[in-house]
Formats: sequence, C-alpha cells, structure tokens
Amino acid sequence: MIELAPVLALARSPLSEIDTDLLIAPIFEGEGLPEDLVSTDDAAAGAVGRAIEAGEVRGRPFETFLTPVTGWKSSRVALVGAGPAADFTIERLRRLATVAALDARRRRIRRIGWINRGGLPAAAAVQATTEGLLLATFSADSYKSGERDCAPPEQLTVAVTSSGGSELEAALERGRILGECSNLARQLCNEPSNVLTPTVLAERAFALCDGSGLSIDILDEQRIAALHMGLLLGVARGSAEPPRVIVIRHDPPGAPASPVLGLVGKGVTFDTGGISIKPADGMERMKDDMAGGAAVICAMRAIALLKAPIRVIGVVPATENMPGGRAMKPGDVLTSANGKTVEIINTDAEGRLILGDALWYAQSLGATHLVDVATLTGASVVALGKAAAAIFGRPDGWVEVVRRTALAAGDRCWPMPLYDEYRDQLKSEIADMVNSGGRPAGACTAARFLQEFAAETPWVHLDIAGTAWAEEAKAWQPKGPTGVAVRTLAELAFVDPASFPRGLSD
Ligand code: BES
Ligand code: MN
Ligand code: ZN
Repeated sequence: MIELAPVLALARSPLSEIDTDLLIAPIFEGEGLPEDLVSTDDAAAGAVGRAIEAGEVRGRPFETFLTPVTGWKSSRVALVGAGPAADFTIERLRRLATVAALDARRRRIRRIGWINRGGLPAAAAVQATTEGLLLATFSADSYKSGERDCAPPEQLTVAVTSSGGSELEAALERGRILGECSNLARQLCNEPSNVLTPTVLAERAFALCDGSGLSIDILDEQRIAALHMGLLLGVARGSAEPPRVIVIRHDPPGAPASPVLGLVGKGVTFDTGGISIKPADGMERMKDDMAGGAAVICAMRAIALLKAPIRVIGVVPATENMPGGRAMKPGDVLTSANGKTVEIINTDAEGRLILGDALWYAQSLGATHLVDVATLTGASVVALGKAAAAIFGRPDGWVEVVRRTALAAGDRCWPMPLYDEYRDQLKSEIADMVNSGGRPAGACTAARFLQEFAAETPWVHLDIAGTAWAEEAKAWQPKGPTGVAVRTLAELAFVDPASFPRGLSD
C-alpha cells in the first residue's frame, strides 16, 4: 500500500539548468518583479513581469500563476502568492510548498522544483519545504478500483543558492522523513475499522518499526489483564476484537538515563460510543479515533530514523468501543492499573479511560515527561473549531515547550486551563471519580481526568479531535486525515533536555 516514494534532491545550479518540468517560486505582496526572479521573466519572454504589472499576480496567499519558459531545462515556471513578506514564517512556507505541489499534481506534472526565497534560515526553510512538498503526495483513495486521483509527482527538487553546506542536505533528509512519517499516519487514520482492528494496528506498528532500530512490545489481553489495566479492559469488553497495548522504545546507545520522553496516543480503532451509542450521522468518521495512536507510532519511526539523542517510549492503548453483550454499562465501576476507581457515566467517554491506564504504564516504564495525543472530545472542537488543537498540562514550562515545538512543526495548538473546579465536576458518590463531567467545559474536564493519571510527572495533553481530520478542503490541505502531531512529537525528541522541567514546581 505504500506508494513509490518520490526522488528528492537539492539543486544549486542556475535556475535555467535545473532538470525538472515546473519551477515554482513564492512571490510576496507588493514586491513587484524581484531581482532574483528577473531570469524567469526573461525566459518567459516578459510574461512574468506583465502578469505582475497587470495585477494578475499580486502575491495574495496561495494564488498561483503559471507560464511556459523557453531555453531552460524546465518548460514552465509558476509563482505562488506568499502574502506579505513581513508575515512570512516556516509554517507559511510549508503550506505554500504543499499548495504548489498539489496544483502541479492536478496538472499531472510529475517533476517539480521549488525555488527557495524569502529570507528564512536556509536549513529550516529547506526542511519545511520538503515536508510541504511531501504532504502533497498523499492519496486518500486507496480503495478505489477504478480511476484514481492524479498520481503524485515522482521527482521533487529544492533549488537553493550555492552557499550553504551539508546542513542543507541534512535538512532535506529531515524534511523527507518527517513528511513521509506524517503521510504514514494519514494512511493509518484513513483505514476503515474493518481493516484496521486493534490487532492489525499493532501489526502495522510492528512493520513500521522494522529496520528502524526501534524495539516494540505488543501486549495482548492476558498481559493487559496481568497489569490490571481495568479501564482499557472495560472499554474493550463490548467488542469481539481483543485490545492491544503497543509499546515502542527508542534507546539510543549512550543516551542519558533521563529525561525519558513518554508519548501516549489514543488508539480507538472505532468509537461507536458503546452502550451510550452515538447518533448515526457522521459516525463513520469515528474510524479515525486512533489518530493520536497513529501520530505516536509514526513519530517514533521518525525519531529513530532521525537518530534522536534522548530516550523515548511510545505507548498506544488500542481497542474498539462497541455496544456488545458484555459491554460496560453506565453505572459500572472500573478499577484502573494505578488503583483508582471510576464510575462510568457515559460509555462514550472511553478515550480518557484507556489513556488513564496508558499514562500509568508509560510512567511505570520510566517516562519522566509525558505527552498524550488524543481525539478526545467534541467539546474541544466547539471551543476552537478546526483551527487549532487544545493543549493542557503542567507545569506551564512543559506546556510551553510542547506548544512552541508544535507551532514550528505546523501543528497549531492553544492553551486551555485545568482549574480545580473541573475536578469537582468529576466527583462520584460511589467511586473515586466519574468518567464524564457533563457538557460544561467538556474538553477541560476530560483533561482534568487524565491529570489524575499523570500524577506528579510533567505532562501535556493535546486534544486533536478538531485537527485530525479535515472536513473541508483548504488550499494546503485536502479533505481527510491530516497527520497532525507527528512532526510535533518527533521534533520534541530534539528539544534541548535542559529546557525540560525537572518537576511540577519547575
Ligand atoms: N472520540 C470522541 C471525541 C470526538 C468527537 C472526536 C468528535 C472527533 C470528533 C470521544 O470518545 C467522545 O465520544 N467524547 C465524548 C465525551 C462525552 C461523552 C463526555 C464527546 O465529546 O461527546
Ligand atoms: Mn467516545
Ligand atoms: Zn473516542
């Protein structure tokens, strides 16, 4: 199912010498015909300058313009509007590269080259460009037996000025790995739940670890029971498919004993809601309720391929949430692996249950800093829409480390509170807590539930319910799975450990 990977290369030669079918450059608002693009205008017999003059090309974000050129190896040149030069960021650049490559793909142009300009640091720009170009090669229609979407480009070139040494080659490779791993996560999210059961998710994780230097351990029901993960087992009871816990480790030789980054991802391969069943409308979307798990698995692959210097543990609890004859029911009380008891109010609040056991397990395996990623609540979508994930956690320093990393990686997120009032909403008459705090602040009470299981370990929770799946196409993002959080989690393993907090009061 993995499509043929495109050939990627850096080019340092003059634009006229670059062997491709389309050269694309970003153009900023109000910059006229810039000096470094005069050669494209010459090769296009003045067509570029005329289009700018006529206001056909204004540099508005994501507008594209294409013209033939003669005397160059490439037969065409395109401009893509980049907005005001003052607003240019790595994230804008990544999106522009995707827009350009998607546009080329629709025109069935198979070899494209991106002209790096705009004054961002060269290595970061090459990396983000490569990520963006690769994100445009994803195809969502893998189950079509007839005519499929236009094939993705097979050759991608990034044109840079000849200055800049081997770090640009490394940046290209880094972008390739992060782009490919984002697409692998999108592929997993796109799989229907009849194909991607918890068992198959674990097998796919196994295959993705193969040859990367990662070690993987897959816990079956017996081992899950032996660890007393009563919350995960409670959710899995309603399904004929057995649960799994996928444990992936990156242990680079010579890495310091601490920190140990613990990545935990929700792996619900289908969420019917269980006995508190969801309405039929849109329920098919719940096949991507394992997007957090996919992000962790694919980020672990990137972390290994990129040789991150610190230890990382990935934990993905995988199960279906089904209303079978043995399913958990409202009023049931479950006991978690850490001994806390939970009264089930709503069987559709299943993500926090399986994550509770998984957060405990990641700590018992030695994680010193936790990040969990989950399509956890519709309430986070009500709060922030599809524009950003919700980020929670403590201490603030750890939240800030993850937030900044996410911003640079192109996974926007916005901070949300964990007030004591939210703990009050989780009080139970019979047990330590209930699993649903009701409608008010639904994303916050879900996060506050998880906090009980993060205990004294620095912890961040990303609620990606709104960002894992694009409901409508944007210029830089087709409908479907987005691959959210893969790059964030992978880049976190490269943050200077000196900026990791040492405890909750740091
Ligand atoms: N997987 C859902 C959350 C979700 C909703 C993801 C929409 C993506 C899009 C989660 O398991 C869920 O059902 N949450 C409930 C919690 C409620 C019962 C407390 C919700 O958000 O309604
Ligand atoms: Mn649910
Ligand atoms: Zn769910």
